[in-house]
Amino acid sequence: MSQDTQKQAVADAAIEYVQVGDVIGVGTGSTADCFIRSLARIKGKLDGAVASSEATASQLRQLGIPVLDLNQVGSLPLYVDGADEATRNRHLIKGGGGALTREKIVAQASEKFICIADQSKLVDRLGPFPLPIEVISMARSMVAREMVRHGGQPELRDGFTTDNGHLILDIRGLDILNPVELERQINQIPGVVTVGLFALRPANLLLIGTDSGVETI
Ligand code: A5P
Repeated sequence: MSQDTQKQAVADAAIEYVQVGDVIGVGTGSTADCFIRSLARIKGKLDGAVASSEATASQLRQLGIPVLDLNQVGSLPLYVDGADEATRNRHLIKGGGGALTREKIVAQASEKFICIADQSKLVDRLGPFPLPIEVISMARSMVAREMVRHGGQPELRDGFTTDNGHLILDIRGLDILNPVELERQINQIPGVVTVGLFALRPANLLLIGTDSGVETI
């Protein structure tokens, strides 16, 4: 099964968790795009959606799905999004597309976070994928130096500004033995807006596309 077929299979599997009258959180990236395409088929079931990026908001609007402000809806029953890496503990690296801050907000506001991914994203230990950190511009060099102390090699994402007007540092070379502790430590660095580790609030369910079908973790 190709990577694209696996992404569509997990997107279709996630649709089964949507209930009539729900307002759900919708993520960002190519796997989330598959989910948005699947949502089009059942959009009548939804009362609306909260988007984790401007790109997702515009796709949802094109489908005629009302895009709501999180402040108006409170907690969400369900959030569906992809990941750049995932472990069987349901810890994730996210932010390859730069939407990590809004993704983390929507995840935190959701009762159930379903992460959908093709098999290539499943790893034994997080870290081969460069860890994205959204930073306030004036802190970028200081945060970069802190990450060198953590054993990483930071690189500023060239020419990229987030939906929130900030920068992204991508940290290579981290071998993330304790994602919960590392997320806590990076959260403490002044100037860090969000780190793309999703371990303190992991996914509730991982749907992984494999050659033999969708594996639920
Ligand atoms: C967006 O910022 C990311 O967190 C995405 O969820 C992640 O990069 C997965 O994207 P793909 O589904 O395109 O691999």
